[in-house]
Amino acid sequence: MRSKVIAGNWKMNKDADESVELINGLLTRGAEIPAAVTVVLCPPFTSLAIAHRLLDGSPFFLGAQNMHYEDEGAFTGEVSAAMLKSVGCSYVILGHSERRQLFGETNELVNRKLRKALASGLTPIVCVGETLEEREREVTEQVISVQLKGALKDVSEADVARTIIAYEPVWAIGTGRNATPDQAQDVHRFIRKLIGQMYSWTTAEKVVIQYGGSVKPDNAAGLLGKPDIDGALVGGACLKVESFFGIVKATSL
Ligand code: 13P
Repeated sequence: MRSKVIAGNWKMNKDADESVELINGLLTRGAEIPAAVTVVLCPPFTSLAIAHRLLDGSPFFLGAQNMHYEDEGAFTGEVSAAMLKSVGCSYVILGHSERRQLFGETNELVNRKLRKALASGLTPIVCVGETLEEREREVTEQVISVQLKGALKDVSEADVARTIIAYEPVWAIGTGRNATPDQAQDVHRFIRKLIGQMYSWTTAEKVVIQYGGSVKPDNAAGLLGKPDIDGALVGGACLKVESFFGIVKATSL
């Protein structure tokens, strides 16, 4: 049985003081996290150190929103896997569509980051997803296939088993228009089958596949109730304690 993973991607929101306030609010609800559910907070880099201190001994895990694939050096503005680990991160989001679209990240770059994250002992959350234009052209599966095969190039079977895939249709991100549970389930099933073909069905069954894109408390249970939807990568709704916990608790509905 795969356990559910709910991750909050704060994106470029919350300065240090606001982060402390949100984390303190989340901490008051920690005891409500169902036993089989992992909850990950991914604040901006500037809040990771303070988040690490506040979350110590709590049931929440910490993740970052991006990283560089090199260990160190002249890479102005970048942060390494070891740096993330030094501030308590155990997860890292890679290849988010905003990074692909706004910052030119390619499948090859995502693959280099993924291999470094795995080698460093971080749990990567690798994002894939089609644009509205691609969905309308009915090439969703081809797009996902190219993204997934590109990201997983030279990744071993043991490593893919501990990689989280997040299916985030670009047209559903920040639009209030989520994929229906059936639409999402179809793509999640496709992703699992593809991993089964690339590796083995035993491994494919172990991979956690999250859905992301306008997940809210009122649509979470429908999505999370589908057999291949193993969690959520939440944007806007993770910025408020009440709505984030509405989603966390939907895992047990
Ligand atoms: P929203 O939940 O705001 O649509 O964002 C989803 C997302 O991009 C999470 O990574």
